This record gives sequence, C-alpha cells and structure tokens, in this order.
Amino acid sequence: MKKLVIVSVSVLSLAVMAAPGICAAKKAEKTDAKAKFDQHCVACHPKGGNIIRPDKTLSKKSLAGHGIKSEKDIVAKMRNPGAGMTKFDAKAVPDAEATAIAKYILTTFK
Ligand code: HEC
Repeated sequence: MKKLVIVSVSVLSLAVMAAPGICAAKKAEKTDAKAKFDQHCVACHPKGGNIIRPDKTLSKKSLAGHGIKSEKDIVAKMRNPGAGMTKFDAKAVPDAEATAIAKYILTTFK
C-alpha cells in the first residue's frame, strides 16, 4: 500500500512538472508563427486583410472561395502567388515555417 502511494505521488508530480512545459511549448509555437507572419505577410495582410486586393483576404470565407482550404494550399500560394504578392520560396521561408504560418492564418482569421 505504501508503495502504491509513493508511485501515485511520483506520477502526479511528474504530470505537474510536465504540464507547464507543454503549455510553454505550445505558446512558443504560436508566438513564433505570429512573428513570422508579422515579418513576412503583415505589410500586405494587416489583420488578415489585403491592402492590394481587398477581395482576396485571409478570412476563411475568402480563402475557401478561392479554393484555399488547407495549410498545404496556403503554402502553395506562398510558393506560387498571384499578381501583386511577393513570392516566398523555400529559401525565404522553409517548409516548416511556411506550414506554421499557414496554421496561424487558418486558426486566427475568421
Ligand atoms: C507585397 C504584398 C504581399 C505580401 C508581402 C504577401 N501577400 Fe499574400 N497576397 C497579396 C496579393 C496582392 C494577393 C492577391 C493575389 C493572389 O491571389 O495571389 C494575395 C493573396 C494571398 C492569399 C490568397 C487569399 C485569397 O483569399 O484568395 C494568401 C493565402 C496569401 N496571400 C498568403 C500570404 C502569406 C502567407 C504571406 C506571407 C508569407 C503573404 N501572403 C504575403 C499580397 C501580398
């Protein structure tokens, strides 16, 4: 019985120690994607809008209306944009970073 108590206490304290670490990692990922968005995209897409082509914002509705539904579609747009948008190749924005920006867009702008 005593052993069981010790085991469960140590499992509990492990969980307590791990939890803030997991939260911090999640937060860092989000902050990082936002920082990257602010660095590369925000000049033309403030608050998910579009200062050059107001009909092509980053809202879910606008994206879906233009066949952009997933992170992959957004990355494809960065790699091969339309008129007026800067091209971001894998050298400018590596795949992992591009995917993080895409996830940020899909979860941030409604
Ligand atoms: C120099 C201005 C400029 C910058 C910088 C820019 N964009 Fe754009 N973006 C545009 C313009 C103009 C369009 C409309 C033309 C098109 O469809 O490519 C557009 C369109 C888009 C669309 C499609 C929107 C829709 O509703 O169809 C996505 C997604 C997008 N941009 C993502 C990004 C991301 C991600 C970045 C940063 C990595 C970025 N853009 C940086 C100007 C820019």
